[in-house]
Amino acid sequence: MKYYILSFITIISITILFDGCSKLQENITQPQALSIHSKGNLDSSSVNFHGNVLKTNNFNLTGCEQCHAANFQGGITDVSCYNCHNYPHPQGMADTTSPNFHGKVLLINHFVMDECQKCHGSDLSGNGSNKLNCRNCHTQSAGTFACNTCHGNFEDTARIAPPRDINGNTSTDLITVGAHASHLYENDFAIVACLNCHKVPNANNVKDHITPISQANIVLLDSLAIHGIASNAVFDLNTGTCSNTYCHGNFEFKKSDAPTERQYAYTSDMMTGNFKTVKWTLLDGSQAPCGSCHGTTDGFISPEGHIKLPITQCVACHSTVVNEKGEVIDKTRHINGQINYALSKKR
Ligand code: HEC
Ligand code: HEC
Ligand code: HEC
Ligand code: HEC
Ligand code: HEC
Ligand code: HEC
Ligand code: HEC
Ligand code: HEC
Repeated sequence: MKYYILSFITIISITILFDGCSKLQENITQPQALSIHSKGNLDSSSVNFHGNVLKTNNFNLTGCEQCHAANFQGGITDVSCYNCHNYPHPQGMADTTSPNFHGKVLLINHFVMDECQKCHGSDLSGNGSNKLNCRNCHTQSAGTFACNTCHGNFEDTARIAPPRDINGNTSTDLITVGAHASHLYENDFAIVACLNCHKVPNANNVKDHITPISQANIVLLDSLAIHGIASNAVFDLNTGTCSNTYCHGNFEFKKSDAPTERQYAYTSDMMTGNFKTVKWTLLDGSQAPCGSCHGTTDGFISPEGHIKLPITQCVACHSTVVNEKGEVIDKTRHINGQINYALSKKR
């Protein structure tokens, strides 16, 4: 009974206490959000827009931490910065070794940068703030859209093809890397262009080609690769081999097309190449030595249907292409789809 009365009194007093409190509240102004954040906090055209406030204090976030918590997930305010955007950025955003590195984050999202543009500016050059300028590090005129940003060598603007494939791999055993360098950058006897094997984006449609396309469509042999009779040139994704390309010897030059004074060099109706099938990931020197694309099985490199001559003599009649040692002296003339006949002056 004693306890019963006691609890009754307690309940009564608590009720009175609460009632008093709410009366008390009616008399003072509530700490409205407006009093904490000035009007325009969320209006990007206002000087009070929180983004502009931060821009003016050079993005010093210590003030915000006090109420929105050190991890910015809301704290006592219950309003997380991440409700609306992926900022404040996680640690390591600019550190290539961190899992939070912006390049890795963008890669996972197929390089969609629309979100970044909202703060970093439509051209990603910072909307007037140096701290927001992607071009501080992406210094080429195309900025982050420079061709060596996502594939190729970030340190070398001349190398835009893998190695470094899209996923950062550099091993030539991978089909995505393969013989790119041997074709494009370490090639002593011909000039090969991306467009021979790919549909190439230009600076104005970079965004379009970033959307992943089917693996089977990445290689689209064109121009020199399919020159002349080589319309059947093909890249086989399963075996990683290229066959019937003009470049590797799918060609024929007809005696009947040659000027009469040049027909003497023909030993049959036509000169033909070797239709060499090559493996894209085999880089041991076996795929394209002299004689692999044109030449006969007995070791001569003059094509089938051509008078047989040693390599040191090609210079006599193809002097703009090779020298006495059989080295290609003009890469623009060899494997260019043209007959290059020029008698040596020394003759
Ligand atoms: C004194 C505490 C306090 C500080 C300091 C503070 N905020 Fe807030 N903030 C709040 C509270 C409380 C709310 C939620 C009330 C509201 O709806 O405005 C809020 C809400 C916000 C909102 C969302 C507004 C809305 O209407 O949804 C933004 C944006 C914001 N704060 C940004 C900031 C930024 C940026 C900083 C640092 C420059 C900062 N805040 C510092 C207390 C604070
Ligand atoms: C209610 C949504 C909302 C919340 C919550 C919010 N922001 Fe924003 N913030 C925006 C919007 C909208 C923009 C404009 C860019 C955009 O559209 O993403 C912006 C832009 C910014 C910018 C870019 C300023 C510039 O000049 O480019 C900064 C910095 C920023 N917010 C910081 C914060 C911080 C820090 C917090 C948490 C304390 C926070 N914001 C919470 C909506 C919000
Ligand atoms: C809501 C605004 C906002 C959005 C959205 C935003 N950023 Fe930022 N970012 C900033 C601000 C502000 C800074 C500079 C202040 C700082 O370092 O915190 C910054 C800095 C950076 C930095 C430099 C970091 C450093 O330490 O030098 C990188 C890199 C970056 N952002 C990448 C991105 C990428 C990539 C995206 C899109 C996925 C993105 N940001 C989206 C506001 C934003
Ligand atoms: C923002 C990242 C990014 C930039 C910048 C970029 N690329 Fe790419 N590129 C990609 C991705 C991702 C793929 C792979 C697409 C796929 O898997 O289908 C690709 C593939 C390619 C291919 C292979 C063919 C194809 O379409 O798949 C070529 C050629 C190419 N890029 C050339 C360029 C050139 C030239 C530029 C500069 C004008 C450039 N890239 C700039 C991301 C980029
Ligand atoms: C602090 C210097 C720095 C800033 C600022 C910076 N970047 Fe980068 N970014 C790099 C470096 C370095 C790489 C190349 C890393 C590598 O070799 O893998 C890179 C790579 C990238 C890539 C390619 C990622 C990949 O894996 O293929 C993209 C896209 C990119 N940055 C976009 C941006 C955008 C957008 C901004 C601004 C919002 C920005 N970067 C700001 C240094 C920076
Ligand atoms: C001789 C043919 C050839 C040439 C020339 C060539 N590529 Fe490729 N490229 C390939 C092959 C084969 C693949 C692998 C296709 C696949 O994965 O389906 C490939 C794949 C790629 C990829 C995709 C890599 C990935 O990670 O998915 C890019 C990017 C690329 N090439 C860029 C270039 C650029 C840029 C150039 C010119 C500077 C170029 N390529 C020239 C044959 C070539
Ligand atoms: C005595 C002169 C002579 C010598 C030496 C000679 N060629 Fe030729 N070559 C010709 C003539 C003539 C043609 C036919 C040109 C035409 O059809 O108009 C020809 C055509 C060719 C063709 C096909 C068309 C073209 O220009 O690509 C190839 C390939 C070729 N020669 C390779 C060689 C090689 C390799 C050597 C050295 C082993 C060599 N030739 C040495 C005279 C010579
Ligand atoms: C990857 C295949 C390939 C390899 C390897 C190759 N050639 Fe050729 N070569 C061709 C093709 C295709 C032609 C047909 C004419 C053209 O398009 O230039 C040709 C033509 C020639 C010609 C005739 C002149 C001309 O260009 O029209 C000479 C001479 C010649 N090659 C010498 C050599 C020598 C010397 C080597 C080794 C250093 C060599 N080739 C390696 C593909 C090759």
